[in-house]
Amino acid sequence: MKIIKVKDQFEGATVAFDMIKDGMANGSKTLGLATGSTPEALYKEMVESDVDFSSMTSINLDEYVGLKADDPQSYHYFMKEHLFNEKPFKETFLPNGMAKNAKEECKRYDEILQAHPIDIQILGIGENGHIGFNEPGSSFDGKTSEVNLTESTIEANSRNFSDISEVPTKAYSMGIGSIMMADKIILLAYGPKKAQAIYETVKGPVSELVPASALQVHPDVTIIVDEEAASKL
Ligand code: F6R
Repeated sequence: MKIIKVKDQFEGATVAFDMIKDGMANGSKTLGLATGSTPEALYKEMVESDVDFSSMTSINLDEYVGLKADDPQSYHYFMKEHLFNEKPFKETFLPNGMAKNAKEECKRYDEILQAHPIDIQILGIGENGHIGFNEPGSSFDGKTSEVNLTESTIEANSRNFSDISEVPTKAYSMGIGSIMMADKIILLAYGPKKAQAIYETVKGPVSELVPASALQVHPDVTIIVDEEAASKL
């Protein structure tokens, strides 16, 4: 694991985007993308750049179950607002939160992942160490599944909803097994609330109780952290 300490999320965005541009110059075609507040500065930098993504494919980690693509709280909407409306990609994929059959939807997403191996995967991290919505206890071999969000994740994400009761309790998420198939992984973490998770990810035992600790055994992981997120390292 390579750790890069940055001043703030804006410097982190520049470092991550430089890695993405290097990857693209060397043939990367498929980006794995995350939502949430962590990658916002990165997407802003991508939008403000003159880089053309129209030959690129993106595959997002997750989507809330029960939210339509045009729901402002959905991850479809987030990605359009923060990136795709300004920077068209060749193809963009997210799980369908309105799918009628969860098993079929997970199978569909796994087939997409098989057809488009991820070159560079962008990750945020939950306060409980989750990556994607793979909560503590998730199998390191896991594929796409419908997951129950933990109380702590629902509470953390409630800041984006007018009331905690509106936060969906389930999501579709790429599995840790699929995340680990990416050629290169860039995990971003900012702020004091991420310090313990980053400590356990980097220094703790590799354990399914800390989903991000799986990254210790991936051959190409870069963790970009600010002072606060790195404070326990
Ligand atoms: C979102 C995702 C999650 C977030 C994590 C951190 O697509 O996969 O794992 O990266 O919950 O969220 P923020 O960045 O909002 O702190």
